[in-house]
Amino acid sequence: MKILIDKIAQNHNATAEELEQILSDSSCDEYLFSIADQVRHDSVGDAIHIRGLIEFSNYCKNNCCYCGIRKGNGNLPRYHLSVDEIIALAEKAKNYGYQTVVLQSGEDLSFDMNKMEKIIKGIKALDLALTLSIGEKTFEEYKAYFDFGADRYLIRIETTDKDLYHELDPGMSWENRHRCLCDLKKIGYETGSGCMVGLPKQTLRSIANDILYFKSLPVDMCGIGPFIPHPDTPLKDAKGKKFILSLKTMALTRLLLPKINIPATTAMETLYENGRVKALQSGANVVMLNVSDSDDRQLYNLYPNKAGSTGNTITLKNDFLEKVRQIGRTISTTKGSARDN
Ligand code: 5AD
Repeated sequence: MKILIDKIAQNHNATAEELEQILSDSSCDEYLFSIADQVRHDSVGDAIHIRGLIEFSNYCKNNCCYCGIRKGNGNLPRYHLSVDEIIALAEKAKNYGYQTVVLQSGEDLSFDMNKMEKIIKGIKALDLALTLSIGEKTFEEYKAYFDFGADRYLIRIETTDKDLYHELDPGMSWENRHRCLCDLKKIGYETGSGCMVGLPKQTLRSIANDILYFKSLPVDMCGIGPFIPHPDTPLKDAKGKKFILSLKTMALTRLLLPKINIPATTAMETLYENGRVKALQSGANVVMLNVSDSDDRQLYNLYPNKAGSTGNTITLKNDFLEKVRQIGRTISTTKGSARDN
């Protein structure tokens, strides 16, 4: 198994069979994590990029079976921020020294083109890199956001198992999700995708295919996290919570795509104390730290007990900086584009 891991780390290539073999065998997990850490060190260096995360709306028109902010969740109070509030949070991120902000929301149709233009231009005037994570749009909409100044876009494929996707995302189509990723790349965004690990009916082979999908696009950024069941969703009784398997999926993604940006995801931190640090030592080089106010953060409830949803944002930052110091890593002083890696 170690020989296979070494070979993949050298060639940055693998077959679905090989990936599945590693995912199914727990004897070399720590070895895999250490090799992914080495590849991360050699390819993108020791600096960690902090992204300031602004979760600006928990309204969503979709009804994904895993997600706590799905339209059908009547137990969730809904909020969205105004244009000025969003820009003020971006200023706060800038004052914290963050050089990228990530705007994330459910698919909230009230954010029309006029509002998006004000938000994007307002944030770009602060000399920040801007990542959008606001779901499925048309080519024309993506192009307009890009022309307003947005630099990057995140949209997870969630799973490459099309049948599973259609079961878990009613009313949506896998092909359209894939189309979104192709359009974003065509337009020139730094494009990020990713998946959840541990979904019901998800096989190791399909996770292997997810990794190969990221390679085939290829993505510039890739967020991988464990599925965590939410009590107010149809998947409330599902098992999920596969921390090690999601870490292995992330580590293998680093071996195949040495130069991309990979976040240590919040879902990992939620499942396992210091999960984010473990991820940073297993191939990840990015973190997203929330800059939204605590009341809103608690309502951006994708899954229960989401890490970083309480406490003040300065404490979140300082606690994280202390952990970075403890593991001997540094904080990046650049905007952290994957294209510069
Ligand atoms: N557990 C883990 N991740 C989730 N997401 C949504 N719901 C859950 C959940 N219950 C992830 C999806 C989405 C991202 C914003 O959050 O992958 O793309």
